[in-house]
Amino acid sequence: MMPGIVACILLACVSVITAQQQTAILEYIQGRMGVLEERIAQWHDLGTRYSGELRDFKNQVLKMLENLEKDKETMRNEMENTNVRVDRLEREVDYLETQNPAPSCVEIDEKLTELHNAKKKQKEKYEKITDCSDTISQVTAMKILKRFGSTDGLWTKDLAGNSEKIYVFDGAGNDTVFVFPRMKEFTLSSSTRKAAKIKLPFPWIGTGHIIYGGNLYYIRKDNEFQVIKFSLANKTIIDSSVLPIEQQVPVYGLSKYNYIDIAADEEGLWVIYATEENEKNICLAKLDPNNLGIEQMWDTPCPIENAESAFVVCGSLYVVYNTKLPSRSRIQCVFDVSGTISSENVPVVYFPKRYGSHSSMKYNPKEKQIYAWDDGYQIIYKLSMKHRDELY
Ligand SMILES: *[C@@H]1O[C@H](CO)[C@@H](O)[C@H](O)[C@H]1NC(C)=O
Ligand SMILES: *[C@@H]1O[C@H](CO)[C@@H](O)[C@H](O)[C@H]1NC(C)=O
Repeated sequence: MMPGIVACILLACVSVITAQQQTAILEYIQGRMGVLEERIAQWHDLGTRYSGELRDFKNQVLKMLENLEKDKETMRNEMENTNVRVDRLEREVDYLETQNPAPSCVEIDEKLTELHNAKKKQKEKYEKITDCSDTISQVTAMKILKRFGSTDGLWTKDLAGNSEKIYVFDGAGNDTVFVFPRMKEFTLSSSTRKAAKIKLPFPWIGTGHIIYGGNLYYIRKDNEFQVIKFSLANKTIIDSSVLPIEQQVPVYGLSKYNYIDIAADEEGLWVIYATEENEKNICLAKLDPNNLGIEQMWDTPCPIENAESAFVVCGSLYVVYNTKLPSRSRIQCVFDVSGTISSENVPVVYFPKRYGSHSSMKYNPKEKQIYAWDDGYQIIYKLSMKHRDELY
């Protein structure tokens, strides 16, 4: 292309300029062309050098990837070896235990006997009451209904009845529950004046309370923590109980006011708690709604640290985690009392990004949705379920 243009310019010039001028122009043009040729040669050199360097780099990366792959293989082998060793150790410990049964205590007070019995029941297999075998696969929708009350609290329907009433516990320590006749009245009313009020005989602590089959179950702290069963029909205490749990500690690292969280699912009532004895992980127990007795207890592998809330679905505990600076809440630990699912089989379920962190999450087994209290906002999360067989 370049010689073509030059020829053109030459032709155009020839007719109007002298021979001397022509020579000068030709020399000038030759000079420029020489410079251009030199530059082209330089670019060519550079280009070859760059492509050489690129090739070297690619080779390096490939080699690094190969090494990584090898490391992974070694790690996997080591893990397998460790697993085999742990299995063997466990079998040996089991064997030793059968050889040397723990000595039975003779004089222990009643509460310890209860604790002992409940712990013993831990070894027994849990017998499901229902045939529900769903697990949460994702949060499919979120509805923000209202902003009401303080940062902490809980709101719920009766989780074992057909009532449309909405119960609101504002704050992690108060004694007055608000009752709205239906969801509509709750979302539309601009104040609590339209709500009925129930004054409880003692203030509650935390956000672990529940309405179940016409009764209100709530946590009170006297010297010890008590579960109180309060009849909504005649506004009287029907029963109260100190759970056979020693030295309780806050059950969720991110909401320290909860020592006992009562949850309802298809199987009945549960208490989620933590003790000094097992201070790193959350414990779970099955609660008899009639006499407030503990039927069975489990230590779960779910850590307390960074937990903000939890709930039970079809006999599986789902613990929701967040960070100190609230980010997206997620279910990161699942504990199934019948032992068929575990966290490894369940994908992490994320909740949509919200304002702060959840101070309560109440699963409604009939509606398959969660009533959550997030920094003073009342939110409903709709869940989609999956049969547990589909996990494998
Ligand atoms: C309960 O909350 C109300 C505000 O909603 C407050 O005026 C009252 O003092 C609280 N009661 C207790 C026992 O904390
Ligand atoms: C209140 O109602 C419950 C049933 O919900 C009943 O068991 C209890 O005896 C009643 N108590 C009084 C004082 O009427």
